[in-house]
Amino acid sequence: MVFGASGLLGQELVKEFSGEQLIALSSKDADLRDPSRLRAVIRGSRPEWIILAAAYTDVDGCESNRDLAFGVNTQGAIHVAQAARETGSRLIFLSTDYLFDGKKGVPYVASDTRNPISVYGESKAQAEERLLEILPDVCIVRTSWLFGPGGQCFPAMILKIAAERPEIAVVNDQRGCPTFTPDLASTLAQLCRKSARGIVHATNSGECTRYDFATEIVRMAGFSTVVRPVSSADFPRPARRPAYSVLSPATLEAYGIEMPTWQHALRRYLAADVTGA
Ligand SMILES: NC(=O)c1ccc[n+]([C@@H]2O[C@H](COP(=O)([O-])OP(=O)(O)OC[C@H]3O[C@@H](n4cnc5c(N)ncnc54)[C@H](OP(=O)(O)O)[C@@H]3O)[C@@H](O)[C@H]2O)c1
Repeated sequence: MVFGASGLLGQELVKEFSGEQLIALSSKDADLRDPSRLRAVIRGSRPEWIILAAAYTDVDGCESNRDLAFGVNTQGAIHVAQAARETGSRLIFLSTDYLFDGKKGVPYVASDTRNPISVYGESKAQAEERLLEILPDVCIVRTSWLFGPGGQCFPAMILKIAAERPEIAVVNDQRGCPTFTPDLASTLAQLCRKSARGIVHATNSGECTRYDFATEIVRMAGFSTVVRPVSSADFPRPARRPAYSVLSPATLEAYGIEMPTWQHALRRYLAADVTGA
């Protein structure tokens, strides 16, 4: 059972599990804020695995809609975990690099202390803590900087702007790792098969700043647009982002899983998007 099936990651999960019995749900099928509806859908099919990829993901929006952020991302996740406990279903919960403060400077390991600097990060951090109490065998998969077909994402935005302007400014003081949704969906399927539990960090391999990422998108897409590095202070946003949020792949490697580099992933994204394949 996939919650968030209409989202960027959810659409790839639906493709990934097309050969399995799958129940794909969007907010219209079951709102995470409606515990009785959640219990009914989970009890109705008693899924072996639930992947909770639904969330209120507007990081800036969360700052002004605190109740919605905690209602969906924290309380909603708790409702799903409680229903999963009743049916004995295993749960994978999608979490984020934004629950770290970004001060570490070397890749974050799963046991590093959560210290979110945004409401979105706080809502996910609280969900993690509660889920580990409710379901000791929960698998929490932290990922970062998702991009892929079928929705708004950083490369889609850069491609659109690069096609319209001779120069674009992109922040060079946020370092993390882009993650291609088809690669993450495949990793999540493998984690189910390996009966994973605990906290796992899953991103494409390597790291870059937003500026590096944009530069590579423009270069690979063949645009002559100039990408200019700027600081986050030049682009004030409602939510703060960690300056450094690279996630160590050690937990994934422990399951014998290795994800491709973000450059390899970007090449595949552009090949599909640019040719319309
Ligand atoms: N995007 C990123 O860069 C990123 C980075 C790190 C972690 N994550 C995490 O990865 C997961 C997938 O992210 P994504 O980018 O694929 O998300 P997304 O594209 O924003 O999709 C969100 C999904 O959640 C559903 N949803 C929203 N509110 C809901 C509610 N109240 N009840 C039930 N469903 C609801 C949406 O359904 P409707 O279409 O019906 O609204 C949609 O299917 C999330 O847990 C997110 O926090 C994302």
